[in-house]
Amino acid sequence: MTSAHAAHPLDPVLKRIDENLADSLMRVFELVRIPSISTDPAYAASCREAGEWLVAELTELGFDASLRDTPGHPMVVAYHDGRKPDAPHVLFYGHYDVQPVDPLDLWDNDPFQPAVRDGADGAKIITGRGIADDKGQLMTFVEACRAYKEVHGDLPCKVTILFEGEEESGSGSLKPFLDANADELKADYALVCDTSMWDARTPAISTGLRGLVGEEITVQAADRDLHSGYFGGAAANPIHILSKILADMHDADGKVTIPNFYDGVEQTPKEILDQWESLGQTAETFLGEVGLAIPSGEKGRSVLELTWARPTAEVNGITGGYTGEGFKTVIPAKASAKVSFRLVGKQDPDAIRENFREFVRSRIPADCTVSFREHGGSPGIQLAYDSPVLQKAKEALSDEWPNPAVMIGMGGSIPVVGDFQTMLGMESVLVGFGLADDRIHSPNEKYALKSFHKGQRSWARILDALAEG
Ligand code: BES
Ligand code: ZN
Repeated sequence: MTSAHAAHPLDPVLKRIDENLADSLMRVFELVRIPSISTDPAYAASCREAGEWLVAELTELGFDASLRDTPGHPMVVAYHDGRKPDAPHVLFYGHYDVQPVDPLDLWDNDPFQPAVRDGADGAKIITGRGIADDKGQLMTFVEACRAYKEVHGDLPCKVTILFEGEEESGSGSLKPFLDANADELKADYALVCDTSMWDARTPAISTGLRGLVGEEITVQAADRDLHSGYFGGAAANPIHILSKILADMHDADGKVTIPNFYDGVEQTPKEILDQWESLGQTAETFLGEVGLAIPSGEKGRSVLELTWARPTAEVNGITGGYTGEGFKTVIPAKASAKVSFRLVGKQDPDAIRENFREFVRSRIPADCTVSFREHGGSPGIQLAYDSPVLQKAKEALSDEWPNPAVMIGMGGSIPVVGDFQTMLGMESVLVGFGLADDRIHSPNEKYALKSFHKGQRSWARILDALAEG
């Protein structure tokens, strides 16, 4: 060898990731082509197919992989030994299910025909439903394992993989599955790749997630649809009742009015607010990205505090009456809305749900009825800022990207993180390579090609750093 320094074992792995990029794209395209929309029963077979595809992929990589049935969509579980017996054992989590694609007419391309294209700023992007949330992200880890194995014939540490197929629809089967397989799944800590970077040059570790409570409410008035001339003025209109209830959920200052809603919500410490302030995000930069300018919600708080540390009540969908072409003079028999609450701190999902139901019931006229349908519930999550594992992951990320990694909050929810904590006593490291403009859950979802490529390199570095001890 002519070099004065022995090559680091990581160097050939990083090189192999670079060489594998074109093939790794073909593989993630295959996965994106499977329309695994978990919330819609019509796609149940596709969800299974995505799980089977992952099992085949992991088996080929030398994992002991299997598809595990649940009452909902199946889980993928896979194991691989590590080269160093004393290195930590990690559990990697991702989800193979995706959100529905509607409205389909707003997509520039078929959501299930992924491709590499030129993005708005000239950088290459990969398009397709689920590419950022979460198929492209989970494949960054699988591809990192592939390169490591191809070069060294093994992995730096013991790895268990858990891929879920119901994350986007409330993770209904997750708790029972973790409970039944606790011994098998417990590792030293979890690595979760389902979050974002701070910006395209700055990787991030998320230390907080908001919880989520989903409720669907249906208000029933008359026992049939009515002619609005014949009955209008006398008969209750369920759309009016529903919209008044929904409007009543916030006061003029943007605070949620449901009784006891803020129980368990603490003020964000000044030093945390200062740290977020130093990231330089403003209402103009944050909202400007999506064509808005004026923060909604609670007054007097920064957009980062509003999205990372404050709870919300949102209406996600509303139906009732005639919404087709033209016009129809009808008072509908029923109207319904899908409402969700993002939770922080110690807010209790069950209490929030019950208080909301009571808030609604107390506003329903005596001759009308309301019914509720539950859509999952999970509490907010706060992770440690200063654990040695986070520190190692932070250094590894900082080695890969132009800017050092930062610690951030995340307004979204990943129910499994709380369950890992409470059911398996396992902390999570939340590292992801999404960007704010990835349009997750929206038409034209994309993932930066850089995220896909450097995400793989990042995981190789992180695994190596964790195994080094
Ligand atoms: N990947 C997201 C969570 C997320 C959102 C992380 C935004 C970072 C930024 C996740 O797949 C997701 O969308 N979760 C749902 C949870 C739900 C349906 C239970 C969410 O947050 O709405
Ligand atoms: Zn996700």
